Amino acid sequence: MVDTKGPLIVALDFDTATEALDLVDLLDPDTCRVKVGKQLFTREGPAILKALGARGFDVFLDLKFHDIPNTVANACVAAAEQGAWMVNVHASGGSRMMVAARDALAKLSNPPKLIAVTVLTSMASEDLLETGTPASPMERVLLLAELAQQAGMDGVVCSAQEAQQLRARLGPDFNLVTPGIRLPENNVGDQRRVLSPSDALAAGANYLVVGRPITAAPDPAGALEHIRSSIEAD
Ligand code: C5P
Repeated sequence: MVDTKGPLIVALDFDTATEALDLVDLLDPDTCRVKVGKQLFTREGPAILKALGARGFDVFLDLKFHDIPNTVANACVAAAEQGAWMVNVHASGGSRMMVAARDALAKLSNPPKLIAVTVLTSMASEDLLETGTPASPMERVLLLAELAQQAGMDGVVCSAQEAQQLRARLGPDFNLVTPGIRLPENNVGDQRRVLSPSDALAAGANYLVVGRPITAAPDPAGALEHIRSSIEAD
């Protein structure tokens, strides 16, 4: 377990604040955190972060910043000012961009965790090739994760199936945030490479991003508890 709230981050992939808040009102902020991505944030703006914070939830603001260093650094500070607990940037923006973000956040009294995205899990070798990258996705993930660590990031987002290799390479103190989590009885949906919660933790993940297995469940609180007990039982 990472801490008393546990490793679960519930992905609030909704169109409206009403849907997101109806869902979180079924959950306990002491047993999970939540993730707000581009879909919800672009419609609802910072008000959704305030509403979630007021309910006691830690919020991972998943906007994957990728821009010139000054812009990304200022965007990370803006996210921190809205109360984000975790923010992320694209490692492919380079070390100068990541260092600028890290240095800007270091000036704050309670900075959010700063996480880098390596290779989007939707990208296969041919997608990398057409963007001028001949390396395999795994080679590219390792290179970008090492760059992120050297640039002082707190961790990376990675697929659960990359976690073991990254944990071995990057040591015990680097956070691995992994989506693509499913229990055996769950629908895989559009995820390609999935792992169970306890297997992902055993592989070295610190935080597990879980969306539809909780948000689309008939009983979201029960689904979350079921996942928590599947972890504790292990
Ligand atoms: O519903 P599901 O559990 O598949 O949701 C996973 C969440 O993690 C979604 O918010 C998705 O955008 C996000 N994500 C992902 N794969 C990545 C990075 C983020 O599925 N590589």
